[in-house]
Amino acid sequence: MTRAIHIVRTVQDLRPRIAAWRQAGETVALVPTMGAIHAGHLSLVTLAKDKADRVVTSLFVNPLQFGPREDFHAYPRDEARDSAALAAAGSDLLYAPDAGEMYPPGFSTKVNVGDLTEDLCGAARPNHFDGVATVVAKLLLQCAPDKAIFGEKDYQQLLIIRRLVRDLNIPVEIIGAPIVREDDGLALSSRNAYLSPDERKIAPLLSQTIHDVAVDLAGGRGADDAVVAARFKLEAAGFRVDYVAVRDPETLKPLYGPVKRARVLAAVHLGKTRLIDNVPVPLAG
Ligand code: PAF
Repeated sequence: MTRAIHIVRTVQDLRPRIAAWRQAGETVALVPTMGAIHAGHLSLVTLAKDKADRVVTSLFVNPLQFGPREDFHAYPRDEARDSAALAAAGSDLLYAPDAGEMYPPGFSTKVNVGDLTEDLCGAARPNHFDGVATVVAKLLLQCAPDKAIFGEKDYQQLLIIRRLVRDLNIPVEIIGAPIVREDDGLALSSRNAYLSPDERKIAPLLSQTIHDVAVDLAGGRGADDAVVAARFKLEAAGFRVDYVAVRDPETLKPLYGPVKRARVLAAVHLGKTRLIDNVPVPLAG
C-alpha cells in the first residue's frame, strides 16, 4: 500500500521541510500543477524523481490565469484523488495553498513577461500568461527548488517561464517534459474530461493534423501553405480554429516559406472545450 503524501498549505510550513532536505544535502524538484492529475502530470513527477532527490508537487487552481468567461469554477477539483495519485507516483510532499495564502488581502503585484505572452494563446486569453507568470514566480520563490518541471504540452507557457527565470535571475533550472498522448494521439489534458463521446472521437484529428504539418514542412512544403491546409482540414472536421502556427522554437517568431527547425502549434475549440497541442519540426524519434 502506498504511503499517504504529506500535505502543507502555507509557506511557513513548506519552507522548513525544504530547508531540512537541503541541509541533508538533498536536491529538490518542483512540479507545479492545478490538480486534475492525469498520466501527463505523473510523467512530470517521474522525471522530477530522476532529476532530484526530493519531489514537491504543488496543487493550486490559480484564479489569476482564468478569464472571466473561462472554466475556473468548473475546473475539476479532487484533492483526495490527486494526492493519492501523486503519492503513488513518488512525490514526497504536496503543497496545496488556498487562494488566501497565495493572494492575501492587498496583493497587487503582477508579473508580465512581455512579447512572448502577446500572441498565440495570449491573444485569445488576455492576462492569462500574466496570471501564470505571477503564480509561477511565487511558487518558485516559496519552494526555492533546484529544478522545476513543466510539460511541453503548454509550449508557449514553458518558453515564458524560461524567460521569466532568466530575466529575474531566479536560481532554478527549468526542465521541459515531453507531451504524453493517448494511443490515438490526443495529448493528455485535464480539459479532455469536458469532451462528449462524439467530440472525443474527433479530438485526435488535432494531433494528426499538426503531425502532418510537421511531416510536410520536413518534406519542403512552405509554412504558410501547410498552415492554410491544416486550418481547412480542422474546420471541415468540426473544430473552431483559434490558431495553427509555425514558429521559431525558441522565440516563437512567425516563420514563412520552407523551414528547417520549427514548432507547429495549434489551439482549437471543440464544442465548449479548448484544446491545444504542438509538435517539433523535425519530428522527434
Ligand atoms: O500548466 C499548469 O498547470 C499551470 O499553468 C501552472 C504552471 C501550474 C501554473 O498555474
